[in-house]
Amino acid sequence: MTPSSSAIGIIGAGHIGAAFARALARRNIPAVLSNSRGPDSLQALVQAIGPSIRAGTREEAAAQPIVLVAVNWSKLQAALAGLPDFGKRIVIDANNPIEAPLFKPAELHGRSSSEVFAGLVPGARVVKAFNHLRPELIAADPAERGGRRVLFLAGDDAQAKSEVASLIDRLGFAGVDLGSLAMGGRLTQFPGGPLPTLELVRFG
Ligand SMILES: NC(=O)c1ccc[n+]([C@@H]2O[C@H](COP(=O)([O-])OP(=O)(O)OC[C@H]3O[C@@H](n4cnc5c(N)ncnc54)[C@H](OP(=O)(O)O)[C@@H]3O)[C@@H](O)[C@H]2O)c1
Repeated sequence: MTPSSSAIGIIGAGHIGAAFARALARRNIPAVLSNSRGPDSLQALVQAIGPSIRAGTREEAAAQPIVLVAVNWSKLQAALAGLPDFGKRIVIDANNPIEAPLFKPAELHGRSSSEVFAGLVPGARVVKAFNHLRPELIAADPAERGGRRVLFLAGDDAQAKSEVASLIDRLGFAGVDLGSLAMGGRLTQFPGGPLPTLELVRFG
């Protein structure tokens, strides 16, 4: 079995992508981390994160059974362009429709940002998750307050949500299912939703 055969792919190795990789490394879960500049630019970072994480190309990351995308909103189209159909694999949307330095909300034409995102990943079963907390709180020990830090998930495919909920559980967080991309996705979307930046901890 090659290291990539059961890895999680990560497209975007900035604040959120690297924080997610740290959460995986904490549990020794294999992942392929990628960015726009290629694997060589990520060697120091993956070495610092841990042995279960390796640097790869965007295409290698996108070929994994579960792929998390964490890229600046205006660069998502380029980051996902030209990739093969996802063939019902799971893509986690960790993105929000706003970015520095202007912090001007993107025009979504009445859709949730994950519905727009889904249009960029043909064939994928999209689950929105890992987008509501500051990256430090995704990277940190989810049990550091006692209890388990809460992560939300939303999506339209029950089986895909169940797999992402299992991953969230394996990472030590408490997953809370908010429903569909249209409804649940909006609750964690920044700006607009009531849940972004809320650090909640589940006891019991
Ligand atoms: N930061 C937060 O507090 C936070 C919290 C929740 C959600 N989010 C969301 O998470 C997403 C990422 O935010 P971030 O703060 O992690 O951004 P970031 O630190 O600026 O990192 C963005 C990453 O995207 C990569 N990227 C850009 N264009 C690409 C392309 N064409 N192909 C492959 N990779 C590409 C960049 O790689 P290069 O550097 O090589 O170009 C970089 O690794 C955004 O949608 C944001 O709204 C952020």
